[in-house]
Amino acid sequence: MASLITVKDVLKVFRSGEKTIHALDQISFEVDEGSFVSIVGPSGCGKSTLLKIISGLLASNSGTIRVNNHQVDRPLENVGMVFQSPVLLKWRSVLGNIMLPVEFAKLDRDRHLETARSLIQLVGLQGFEEMYPFELSGGMQQRVSLCRSLVTDPQILLMDEPFGALDAMTRDELDLELLRIWEERKKTVLFVTHNIQEAVFLSDYVVVMSARPGRLLKKLRIDLVRPRTLEMLSSSQFGEYTLQIRGMLTSASKIPDAAIGSTT
Ligand SMILES: Nc1ncnc2c1ncn2[C@@H]1O[C@H](COP(=O)(O)OP(=O)(O)OP(=O)(O)O)[C@@H](O)[C@H]1O
Ligand SMILES: [Mg+2]
Repeated sequence: MASLITVKDVLKVFRSGEKTIHALDQISFEVDEGSFVSIVGPSGCGKSTLLKIISGLLASNSGTIRVNNHQVDRPLENVGMVFQSPVLLKWRSVLGNIMLPVEFAKLDRDRHLETARSLIQLVGLQGFEEMYPFELSGGMQQRVSLCRSLVTDPQILLMDEPFGALDAMTRDELDLELLRIWEERKKTVLFVTHNIQEAVFLSDYVVVMSARPGRLLKKLRIDLVRPRTLEMLSSSQFGEYTLQIRGMLTSASKIPDAAIGSTT
């Protein structure tokens, strides 16, 4: 498979007054077209920062991102983003929220209205099109946010802990839905989570990062058959992957944190 996203030697240092925060240290990995890759790592290791750099929303200090063989130096257009909180506009209906990217990009409304309706169907929100965010559960709001990220049919989905705030059962349900959409619509997904089980369950590869400064510990191939089922969560092969990742994170956390420096 061809590499769609190439992250090469990415380094990011934030400056905040007198302090410097070394967020990412020489991160390199590739994401093949059509694959599902998760990034796991402890809180503050730079996962969100990395996703923002890949999307072109934030510049790195050094290193490069290439998508479709073009260097990223501005916000990408063929990308859908989903964040931890659904960030819906409260004065817009479900359909109105899903159609936002279409309006921003001034795309054909009628054609995309059809896409929006088929996505609503796909995530089981039919009948809720005219409701407002406050009338929806957390899981339903996140489904709306998923539809919004897909309505312009982007090649890539960048997801930052999209289901982290949900209860375990709803998260399992949405994980399965996401896999179905990924398989059906042939997307490339880069998915951030700090839930090791979720990362293994969803992914072809799991990128494991150390605590700050975020370094790449391993890109681990997950050889579980597809389609994935919830029964796999209790298989020994699944357990071995999660143990392996937990082991990497535990040994890396024993290295003292030297990431916060001073500019003086
Ligand atoms: N705009 C910013 N200015 C200064 N420091 C920042 C900024 N954004 C992030 N940081 C710092 O960079 C580090 C990495 O932050 P980031 O949000 O990428 O971590 P994360 O891995 O996504 O954490 P979490 O799992 O808690 O979401 C943190 O120490 C944070 O304080
Ligand atoms: Mg984050």
